[in-house]
Amino acid sequence: MRIAILSNGNGNYSTKRLVEEAKKRGHEVRVIKYRDCYASIERNNPTVSYRGEDLSGYDAIIPRIASYMTRYGSAIVRQLEMQGVYTVSSSIAITRSRDKLRSLQLLAKAGVGIPKTVVSRNSTDIDSLIEKIGGTPVVIKLARGTHGNGVVLAESKKAAKSVLQAFYLTNEDGTNILLQEYIEESAGMDIRALVVGGRVVASMKRQSLDDDFRSNLHKGGEGTVVKLTEEETKMAVKAAKAMGLNVAGVDMMRSERGPLILEVNASPGFGIEKVTGRDVASKIIEYVELNAKRGSKKDKVGA
Ligand SMILES: Nc1ncnc2c1ncn2[C@@H]1O[C@H](COP(=O)(O)OP(=O)(O)O)[C@@H](O)[C@H]1O
Ligand SMILES: [Mg+2]
Repeated sequence: MRIAILSNGNGNYSTKRLVEEAKKRGHEVRVIKYRDCYASIERNNPTVSYRGEDLSGYDAIIPRIASYMTRYGSAIVRQLEMQGVYTVSSSIAITRSRDKLRSLQLLAKAGVGIPKTVVSRNSTDIDSLIEKIGGTPVVIKLARGTHGNGVVLAESKKAAKSVLQAFYLTNEDGTNILLQEYIEESAGMDIRALVVGGRVVASMKRQSLDDDFRSNLHKGGEGTVVKLTEEETKMAVKAAKAMGLNVAGVDMMRSERGPLILEVNASPGFGIEKVTGRDVASKIIEYVELNAKRGSKKDKVGA
């Protein structure tokens, strides 16, 4: 097969691993820097060019779109979808996963456990918003934050008010600001489950090594192997499905009332391979082999 990996970083570990596994399995593979692609929108003739060359003839693409380039990257993916090229992650699923509010709405609707969350356009009635999610401390997060940036813990109502007021200043549209119940019993620890084609292929626990309540590896968290319970496995699979993602990094917390999903990542890093010894890249290539030929299924999530 001819496979294109849409990624801006050739040297990136995940991209390297995908290239390596695709070659090992006999495919012709190329890394396309999507930031250097342009789309030409014409009646009945959607094309994508890459550094002056027409990009066509690929059997499948594997998008690895960075969160800060979501709109541009997913537009390129959409253009290729319109040509009928198979993509392991659809453009709409990538876009929805980058918005925590939209994701939580879909997850909740699908019956996936999530922390209590509220969204509000203004900060006038903060007291009742805080009551709604069970009082302080509360987590305040930006719907489009990533790597733990834009996630704040407010210990008191007073602190919550100041943080919200500051956030509202730069976010006229309140949909970017979420107030969330603080999962205290699991503070500083979360679980990443990597789901490929409806199966968990690797899972790890991430632990913050200092007093930070955020366990992101980008914030100095450390990953170790963890065995998921049956409920956690089911929840991870359900979450990926609710988002319409064939490849997903599902983040969850172990709470007193069971697993609660925080977010679902559309381009999860493969650092989890090093932690768990599991071969995630080859699972993805195998999935592409099986599904590219069948043609893309329509995204049924709907939002
Ligand atoms: N409601 C919460 N209760 C306790 N800890 C949380 C909560 N939400 C997030 N965290 C911690 O903060 C980290 C980052 O939050 P997350 O929602 O995944 O945002 P990001 O996209 O920045 O990774 C999580 O991995 C978790 O350790
Ligand atoms: Mg996260």
